[in-house]
Amino acid sequence: MAFPVRPIPYDRPMKLDRLYNTADFREAARRRLPAPMFNYIDGGADDEWTLKRNTAAFDDYEITPGQLNDISAVDTGIELFGRKLDWPVFLAPTAMTRLFHHEGERAAARAADATGTLYSVSTLATTSMEDIASATPGPKMFQVYIFRDRGLTAEFVERAKASGYDALCLTVDTPVQGNRERDLKTGMTIPPRFSLKSALSFAAHPHWALTTGFGGFELENVSHGGGGLSGKTMSLLQYIHTQFDSTLTWKDAEWLREHWDGPFVIKGLQSAADVARAAQLGADAVMISNHGGRQLDSAPAPVDGIAAAVEAADGRLDVICDGGIRRGKHAVIALALGAKACSVGRPYLYGLAAAGEAGATRALTRLKEEVTRTLALMGKQNIAGLSSGDVQRL
Ligand code: GLV
Repeated sequence: MAFPVRPIPYDRPMKLDRLYNTADFREAARRRLPAPMFNYIDGGADDEWTLKRNTAAFDDYEITPGQLNDISAVDTGIELFGRKLDWPVFLAPTAMTRLFHHEGERAAARAADATGTLYSVSTLATTSMEDIASATPGPKMFQVYIFRDRGLTAEFVERAKASGYDALCLTVDTPVQGNRERDLKTGMTIPPRFSLKSALSFAAHPHWALTTGFGGFELENVSHGGGGLSGKTMSLLQYIHTQFDSTLTWKDAEWLREHWDGPFVIKGLQSAADVARAAQLGADAVMISNHGGRQLDSAPAPVDGIAAAVEAADGRLDVICDGGIRRGKHAVIALALGAKACSVGRPYLYGLAAAGEAGATRALTRLKEEVTRTLALMGKQNIAGLSSGDVQRL
């Protein structure tokens, strides 16, 4: 009698129907990925205080439900950047998706589309923005880092227009890279380096090693313009410090605004003063974000900045809460405080790492169901029915 050969238990196919929430998908990703890749997704800067605080801050809020409101048809839809989304949580831009699963960005875009939401494509994607754009008809935003090579940055705008992106998003919280010590300890490099230590970790994850590790890797959007890796192996820190322009000011944001006539988003603001500045400049939305706790440690949790940001925006732009969301109830709290939408990075990456497109789709579907259930239990028929009176800060 033949037995299936599965020498390494970590590589057993995931039983997706047994994964119920973001924490389950995180654990599945931890088992599935070599240490450098898992810790790159999972980790933050310095002491990871902000990383933890981003989620813990939601525990400072209570939700008070209203009863007897006929919630037989809860509508979680919103309109964002001129497109209809089935629910108010979208996929934040995240770098180098192909490191976590060989299906890469196309799979993430399809998972977003399958759940009826927007996918954000990172400048540092491992699939070209044109190929991602043609993977699904769903709503998409292109995220821009301003490179020292301004020609390359101007080219992003033209390519995003030509391939039909709905919005452009400038990330402004990465003038230098945050101090991510997990990456130093695990020897995380791009592309993955086969040192003795990492090779042991890759050998313990043969599925990842065979499908993803040897599958080729390039920063497809920048590789032709001197922004690629050109066959070199380096840390993300070295990459950012050689390529990103650290002289950036608001004038550069203005320059980008002038070159893009569609919805323009600034990501990585944390103060009311900066939100007001973004509104003056003509931004359509700001993402209140500390880059998932990966940049300035001790920065405040996004949810705690929503009310002040909404006040500073004074109706001139939409406020998006990016960071810390692990449950549907977290998104609902941010929306009640005035956010127009929320975005998630790690929750979908854990799903993708666990089982590719199917894993990302299930992780997002569970989150969406949590949003719907939370609204129903609060007695809300739709997102517009939420208000700051529904949540109390402890
Ligand atoms: C890239 O943006 C990262 O946070 O790793």
